[in-house]
Amino acid sequence: MNRILTSKWTKVVVFVVCLAPAGLLVWEIFHDGLGANPTQFLEHATGDWTLRFLMITLAVTPLRKILNLPQLIRFRRMFGLFAFFYVCVHFCLYIGLDQLFNLRGIWADVLKRRYITVGFTGFVLLIPLAITSTAGMIRRLGGKRWQKLHRLIYVSAIAGVIHFYWLVKSDVREPLLYAAILAVLLGWRIMTWFRNRDRGPAPGNVVRKEPAAAEMN
Ligand code: HEM
Repeated sequence: MNRILTSKWTKVVVFVVCLAPAGLLVWEIFHDGLGANPTQFLEHATGDWTLRFLMITLAVTPLRKILNLPQLIRFRRMFGLFAFFYVCVHFCLYIGLDQLFNLRGIWADVLKRRYITVGFTGFVLLIPLAITSTAGMIRRLGGKRWQKLHRLIYVSAIAGVIHFYWLVKSDVREPLLYAAILAVLLGWRIMTWFRNRDRGPAPGNVVRKEPAAAEMN
């Protein structure tokens, strides 16, 4: 399994798979597949994929520890950047199709509608994470500071789930499912944190200073 995970081709395949939802959306645009309300269709699809990629990114660390597959870490940055890619498209669709580039209207909406406020917060919090996702930035910030900064992904994911919960009118099952998944992913981290605190730092939990620190979280 580790051989597959370390192959450069696996990374290429995973990249293509992550891009496929965007490709499918473009295909639907050119084949009249967006239904009666294309704006809503596109906003919903890109919103869904943002949330899915946030969950996938947060699932990497628990999965690699539980399944003993350290090489899974190779994909985490890609998943995180895909979450950022989909939220950028999501936000651009909102700016262009929903608000017709009316910047004042957008700002008024951010201040007025609580689900937009919280979604916007989730988006803004992802910006520094995307900017500092390179090995050079990890080195410049130092492992510990980088790790602290990248905990913002937890807040962003929470904001994303609240955004979804607040925007649905009646059937809250889907946002609640995301909330449950997020609770498990964050709960695992809290449990691990308490366990490590009681035991003292194990060799595998010592914070390294160089890019390998990006493997934490
Ligand atoms: C981390 C950030 C965000 C996440 C995870 C996210 C996620 C989502 C999700 C899951 C949906 C609903 C999809 C569905 O119904 O299946 C949605 C819808 C929507 N989002 Fe976001 N979103 C984020 C940021 C934003 C931002 C920054 C804006 C605009 C300022 C925005 C505006 C909208 C709008 C307008 C809708 C459609 C609402 C409607 O149905 O009327 N979102 N988003």
